[in-house]
Amino acid sequence: MLQGKNIIIGISGSIAAYKTITLVRFLIKAGANVKVVMTPAAKEFASPLVLSTLSKNPVFIDLSTESSWANHVELGRWADLMVIAPLSCNTLAKLAHGFCDNLLMAVYLSAVCPVVVAPAMDEDMWKHSTTKENIAKLIVANNKIIPVENGELASGLIGEGRMAEPEAILKFIIEFFTVTGTIKDFAGKNILITAGPTYERIDPVRYIGNHSSGKMGIALAEEFTNRGASVTLVIGPTKQNISSSIYKTVQVTSAEEMYNACVVEFPASDIAIMSAAVADYTPVTASHQKIKKNDLTFTIELKKTKDILGHLGSVKTEKQFLVGFALETNNEREYALGKLKAKNADLIVMNSLNNKGTGFGVDTNQVTIFHKEGKEFEFILKSKMEVAKDIADVIKTCTHE
Ligand code: CTP
Repeated sequence: MLQGKNIIIGISGSIAAYKTITLVRFLIKAGANVKVVMTPAAKEFASPLVLSTLSKNPVFIDLSTESSWANHVELGRWADLMVIAPLSCNTLAKLAHGFCDNLLMAVYLSAVCPVVVAPAMDEDMWKHSTTKENIAKLIVANNKIIPVENGELASGLIGEGRMAEPEAILKFIIEFFTVTGTIKDFAGKNILITAGPTYERIDPVRYIGNHSSGKMGIALAEEFTNRGASVTLVIGPTKQNISSSIYKTVQVTSAEEMYNACVVEFPASDIAIMSAAVADYTPVTASHQKIKKNDLTFTIELKKTKDILGHLGSVKTEKQFLVGFALETNNEREYALGKLKAKNADLIVMNSLNNKGTGFGVDTNQVTIFHKEGKEFEFILKSKMEVAKDIADVIKTCTHE
């Protein structure tokens, strides 16, 4: 049932770790390849020797030994799914805040695959407001939570907080793979993605920019990489973490640099997705020295930047698939459809700044996607990672027609 699926089992320090031994046995029986990563505290609750024997792989615990270093990036890239079971209160807090003080955390932070967690703790801890906040953070970051069960707890009390039984976790994992289907459905495809803002230089200390964070484009790069594509991300200035070890990243500053990078990358691309908020205008001349304030008013002469999407639309071949974005505040549909046609794109992903939770800097987005042949795909407000998945699914549907 799970033939060939690569699964990392993360175990943190909790009495419930004994159940994970059974889970590993179930996964191996179902055909999965399993590698176990434990926190140092988890060793007290489940034997690494037993886990290593059952999983048929070494168990990973320390970031390094005297003579070797555990390659957490390699582990993170190997997996189709990471399951942290049990998830202790302490490890939950670390996940929510991005701590990296043990191998399990380093693998989690390096993982490009989906992550599922099965919390385990006493009822009071489970119901604590901080725990609730931490769980909410994990949900926003697109982790899947396996609900805790009601029953006898390690403290002897009866209540909520028991880790789900191994059978329930296995069921969750099988359903997960059934829903996501063949994950590597973009294998062999080269995908070019633009993201982030561009900065147009005025003088050595000033620029014209915008509030784009690059989050949507990064989510797309991760989604397509997960699904087997070779991704090149051309990205303007951003504060976001970029997984540059798993996809090629070209960092640019100005619209001109982004255009030049895309012109180089596009011929080898099967699909190009232009999610960058490219400046439409740039100063005619940039001053080499800092401009001093003299007069009461100050004028900068601007010229249009090169339209990257428009250019790629004019040179694309029959086999290439081009996707643009349209961020609108009014007449959304009309403008988006206008851009689809004017730029000879195959799809336009429209989002409206009028919708709550949509726009620059936020973690969510609500999109409607228009296909050049008239089909429309409307979605509800979702995390940007889920929107990236929807966009990939729509591209899959449209490129198969
Ligand atoms: N785009 C681009 N190159 C530019 C400007 C925009 O590739 N110089 C791309 C964006 O990445 C996005 C789409 O074009 O995919 C947006 O279309 P555009 O008409 O430029 O939208 P706006 O910049 O919002 O323009 P307008 O002010 O006309 O709405």
